[in-house]
Amino acid sequence: MTAADRAAGFDWEALRAEARDAMSHAYAPYSGYPVGVAALVDDGRTVTGCNVENASYGLGLCAECGLVSQLQRTGGGRLTHFTCVNGEGELLVPCGRCRQLLYEFGGAGLLMDTPGGILPLSEMLPQAFGPDHLTK
Ligand code: THU
Repeated sequence: MTAADRAAGFDWEALRAEARDAMSHAYAPYSGYPVGVAALVDDGRTVTGCNVENASYGLGLCAECGLVSQLQRTGGGRLTHFTCVNGEGELLVPCGRCRQLLYEFGGAGLLMDTPGGILPLSEMLPQAFGPDHLTK
């Protein structure tokens, strides 16, 4: 099935609503830039995250860190659909490091809800380094 087929009919608005709810729990006193994320897992679960900053600025955790942590803690699985919103609830592209985090658990076919449309992660992180490289 193509990425377009898997995106068709999917309720992205429902996933965005979960990301906005997660964003409302962000701890972002230093940047003033709350972020929320949500993703569907291949067994039907939804996992979410918000950014959690730190007085030691470099230790701040992106929202995606919380999402992959919840994914693993609640049983693992593969991410299939992902969305990310800013403090206004608008779509946001994940940072480069977070694209790599998502690649680990969703791979090239993970569908990303971006300001530029629904794109597979392979278009957001081309020629990705990943788990397969370590087994060769
Ligand atoms: N941030 C995320 O949580 N995820 C992203 O993909 C982009 C950036 C957070 C990190 C920091 O707390 C704030 O946004 C401003 O950079």
